[in-house]
Amino acid sequence: MSDPSSVFYRGVTQSYPTAVKSAGLYVYDETGKRYLDMSGGAAVSCLGHSHPRVMQALCDQIQTMAFAHTAFFTNAPQEKLAQTLAEKFTEPGAKVYFTSGGSEANETAFKLVWQYWRAKGQPAKKKIISRVHSYHGNTLGTLSASGNLPRRRVMGDVLIEWPRIEPCYAYRLQDDGESAEGYALRAANALQSMIEREGADTIAAFIAEPVVGASLGVVSAAPGYFKRIREICDENDILLIADEIMCGTGRTGTFFAHEQEEFIPDVVTLAKGIGGGYQPLAATLARRHMHETFVETGRGFNHGHTYVGHASACAAGLAVVQTIEEEGLLDHVKALGAYLQAGLVAAFADRPYVGDIRGRGLFRGLEFVADKQSKTPFPDAMKITGQLKQVSMEHSLICYPGGGSERDNLGSHILLAPPFIAQKEHIDELIEKLSAIFDDVFDG
Ligand SMILES: Cc1ncc(COP(=O)(O)O)c(C=O)c1O
Repeated sequence: MSDPSSVFYRGVTQSYPTAVKSAGLYVYDETGKRYLDMSGGAAVSCLGHSHPRVMQALCDQIQTMAFAHTAFFTNAPQEKLAQTLAEKFTEPGAKVYFTSGGSEANETAFKLVWQYWRAKGQPAKKKIISRVHSYHGNTLGTLSASGNLPRRRVMGDVLIEWPRIEPCYAYRLQDDGESAEGYALRAANALQSMIEREGADTIAAFIAEPVVGASLGVVSAAPGYFKRIREICDENDILLIADEIMCGTGRTGTFFAHEQEEFIPDVVTLAKGIGGGYQPLAATLARRHMHETFVETGRGFNHGHTYVGHASACAAGLAVVQTIEEEGLLDHVKALGAYLQAGLVAAFADRPYVGDIRGRGLFRGLEFVADKQSKTPFPDAMKITGQLKQVSMEHSLICYPGGGSERDNLGSHILLAPPFIAQKEHIDELIEKLSAIFDDVFDG
């Protein structure tokens, strides 16, 4: 039998509906079926689909100059977008390096911190400490720093084995009777213990998502956690990388997610929302002191990809950021996020398999358990995550189910990341669909 497609699909044995059109909150397939996109794919489409302002900016840029290699030229969209992001950053003087996707942005962050320490005369500072249940990308370097076991497993011993600490994950790891602040301190101090075990002179940086996305299903840290993490990094001469690829660009209600956490990272990475799906775009922001080191030592930063600072991609990114700002969408993200959380709690908190409903802004997660009291996950054999994905598509809902939130393959959750242009009626439609999906998966 001849194979109708020459595409090497993500799921090699899977078939996919063909998407032919998208507008606002909806994606349409070739049969005319309309899907409500409540995760922006994977927290990408922050302005929904076909936003006229971004499309216009993109068309204008392509007609003027789509691309001119940044080894030879700079371009106006990259200059303006860098300036806009640097002005939004918590401390003046940050510099921005543009790439095409989240993995490249984190890979850039790793090379930055390594070359920074080399420039400072400490080339032995190489290890990147990360957290269990984290995802920082799918290149060999960024997957090495990722704690997400289901995604790491297939690569076996090809990956670099760097140290990892437990995440700050109150739902499962806070002790009975322990205060949120006490737990935050205990969780952060795990970094200090790890540094003592490994030796600060071997460690370049610690990387964490201020709000964990796909690996845990939207988990923010307990209050004070990142403040203590920052202190530990400073005391031990270790750089701090905030991976805001999923949680940044306004998703949690502030432009940078770390703004809600009382710390300034040395490096921040953005992707997904910054291009909004209109163009592949990512950004690595380096704090002023890091950039100055490269300038002062005269060593420069050795890195680069063909599409660094791509003019059309930056033009789309600029239009996305300006739209978020000028349409006051951060306030809307906070208000609608509260409406979404209240709706999810009202509809699902009493269901026996819904263990936790959490998140910030328009970034929300539901964790599912077989037993609410003991928080025991469903057995792997039930393939809850796969079922949720399949049944959601049948119900014309795009959401982002994930697994491994308890350990290894166990634990399942759904991540929701509605576009910032969503309105209450879309949230109501989401809750109606989720209700039917949960009935089918858990009660069917
Ligand atoms: C937190 C985080 N970091 C990094 C990445 C990798 O980004 P990309 O898939 O664009 O390479 C992702 C992707 O899901 C992510 O969620």
